[in-house]
Amino acid sequence: AKITFIEHSGESRTVDGRDGQSVMEAAVVNDVPGIDADCGGACACATCHVYVDEAWTEKVGGPAPMEEDMLDFAYDVRPNSRLSCQIKITAELDGLVVTTPERQG
Ligand code: FES
Repeated sequence: AKITFIEHSGESRTVDGRDGQSVMEAAVVNDVPGIDADCGGACACATCHVYVDEAWTEKVGGPAPMEEDMLDFAYDVRPNSRLSCQIKITAELDGLVVTTPERQG
């Protein structure tokens, strides 16, 4: 599935994510800047924070309780904030657009 990452600066990159991979993993293997992912996807660092594009929030869904707790540690949290390591890529998410925050943590 194609995932587009838009940086705070407005620069965008579209990468090919494999089904079953997380959005965070797709960013890291494709050298997308703006996602630190310090904990490697364990929902324990909040440095993989992204904003889900408004058109996608329903399809992506909201955070699980554990993720919601961890989001408290993220910078500038908004209603469409998610931790990208907790978003699993599926065929339905082809075309997903997320924005990375100004900074992580
Ligand atoms: Fe650490 Fe997502 S990579 S919470």
